[in-house]
Amino acid sequence: MSEIQDLAGRTALVTGASRGIGMAIAAEFLARGAKVAITARKPEPLEEAARALRAGREGAVVLPIAGNAGDADARAEAVTRTVAELGSLDILVNNTGINPVFGSLMEADLDAVRKIFDVNVVAALGFIQQAHKAWMGEHGGAVVNLASVAGLRSTGAIAAYGASKAALIRLTEELAWQLGPSIRVNAVAPGVVKTKFAEALVAGGEEQTAAMYPMKRLGTPEDVAGLVAFLVSDAAAWITGDTIRVDGGLLATGSL
Ligand SMILES: NC(=O)c1ccc[n+]([C@@H]2O[C@H](COP(=O)([O-])OP(=O)(O)OC[C@H]3O[C@@H](n4cnc5c(N)ncnc54)[C@H](OP(=O)(O)O)[C@@H]3O)[C@@H](O)[C@H]2O)c1
Repeated sequence: MSEIQDLAGRTALVTGASRGIGMAIAAEFLARGAKVAITARKPEPLEEAARALRAGREGAVVLPIAGNAGDADARAEAVTRTVAELGSLDILVNNTGINPVFGSLMEADLDAVRKIFDVNVVAALGFIQQAHKAWMGEHGGAVVNLASVAGLRSTGAIAAYGASKAALIRLTEELAWQLGPSIRVNAVAPGVVKTKFAEALVAGGEEQTAAMYPMKRLGTPEDVAGLVAFLVSDAAAWITGDTIRVDGGLLATGSL
């Protein structure tokens, strides 16, 4: 956790932040001085996360806004309330991502595939449109999209999810071009990070999966949060349209 107050005076909206990577990003932003709004579908775990994020941080401002990222009204409400109640929207992190389809694309249920693209890609664009309209178009800002190494290389096992993350990576490039110079848009591509989401990915055994990584361990949510905080800070002022891997060296091995 950083001691640098480089996000003081800024407001961030982090989607899908009642646990896992999103919650760690919210914690890192708070530690760096930002005010934070967080979303998730289930209200009670979201309220609990907000309480946990405030605990031990005097003056920490955390606004929980329950809603499904795939729902346009929920996106509009999250953005509108962030600006109205926290005063601005300088940072948007599209962290929400789902992966309900495994295995053969020939067997894949197309409604499930459509849902993956809707939540992982279309909802991210929807949030950016809303943030642009409500604040960033006039005042500027920084956006980070949560992609995956599965968006950079084929995995076989999580193919539909990987295709959606590849689309998110290209969307990041297109938006960086269209929204510069006042809004920067980047993505991060994690390898396997120990969260609820990844439980199915390490079903074969954590040690066996970790052995494939040069760093010989799986990622933690904090490993990703530090990179995201850097990307939205002024230290990354000339970085836009990029996708930065945070994968313990996995893709360097060529094994994916
Ligand atoms: N963990 C990994 O190994 C890994 C690797 C690469 C990339 N990623 C990406 O990192 C991001 C975060 O993953 P994670 O591992 O932290 O997941 P996680 O532990 O499962 O947390 C997901 C969060 O998103 C919320 N959420 C899920 N669906 C939502 C929806 N439709 N609308 C609003 N909120 C929703 C969940 O709360 P509710 O259930 O209450 O909605 C929860 O707060 C995802 O985009 C994922 O694709 C993860």
